[in-house]
Amino acid sequence: MLKRVEARQVRTGMFVEAIEGAWQDPFLSKRRFLLRREIDAQKLRKSMTGVIINTSRGLDIDGLPGGNIEIDTKAARETIQKSMQVLESVFGRLQHGDGISVDQVAPVISSVSKSIDQNPTVFLSVTRLKSKDEATFLHSISVSALMILFSRHLGLDETTVQMLGTAGLLHDVGKLEIPLEILNKEGPLDEDEIKMIRDHPEKGHAILSRQEGMSEIVLDVCLNHHERIDGKGYPRKLSEAQVSLHARIAAICDVYDAITSVRPYRAPWSASQALKWMLGNEGHFDRRLLKKFALCLSVVAVA
Ligand SMILES: [Fe+2]
Repeated sequence: MLKRVEARQVRTGMFVEAIEGAWQDPFLSKRRFLLRREIDAQKLRKSMTGVIINTSRGLDIDGLPGGNIEIDTKAARETIQKSMQVLESVFGRLQHGDGISVDQVAPVISSVSKSIDQNPTVFLSVTRLKSKDEATFLHSISVSALMILFSRHLGLDETTVQMLGTAGLLHDVGKLEIPLEILNKEGPLDEDEIKMIRDHPEKGHAILSRQEGMSEIVLDVCLNHHERIDGKGYPRKLSEAQVSLHARIAAICDVYDAITSVRPYRAPWSASQALKWMLGNEGHFDRRLLKKFALCLSVVAVA
């Protein structure tokens, strides 16, 4: 569907069919293109009055896929729906102390991996919308997809990529032990509640350690995804040298998904706002890795 948007509403991920007014930039003078880079979006916002976008080929004004990307969106939704069912049953088994094996989540990893490969923009847009009940599952699927996307971008070997995808799915399993009222609480948390939330990496690690043959990568990511480069993370306040590459990747993907998600009680940040905030958040992330993450997202036209 074609729509006219005001220049100030232009964002990356939109498919531009036509631009109003004269335009000298050789890149933007191509009349039809997918707006991939924030710098080009800024140029359009500054110099144009309005743009015609095609929502069947890119994002709509609200940052979600337009109504006509039906086929891609439907496929992504189906993948996510099936993945959520498998994940729900895996988390349920873990919660009841039953065993699981990595093989049980393998079909989820392969379908998420295929889907993110085919159309990352659509896949990540669909997972942005999280209702309270499904937030943890959808967050897990989204982090898994981001970790697969990013680790492939970094050129890691395929076995490690699959393990990082699995780690993304299982990293927050310790949240199963936190009551939903606390996880979904809108106001400030008291000290006990903060402690309960901060215990989730260790609780998750304990749950996963009981599973036979659980990969070291999955265990490491589960325990250390809230550690920070400046040593102010939790649960163990690890120093920079102690935080593995896998945990650093997870920390970036985890926070990025959390702040770009659409939640009922707060407005989401756009990809570029999120990356800007993360880059400005000194000491939290591995900056070199974070810059590569930004590049990875700009390549797939999410940022
Ligand atoms: Fe977490």
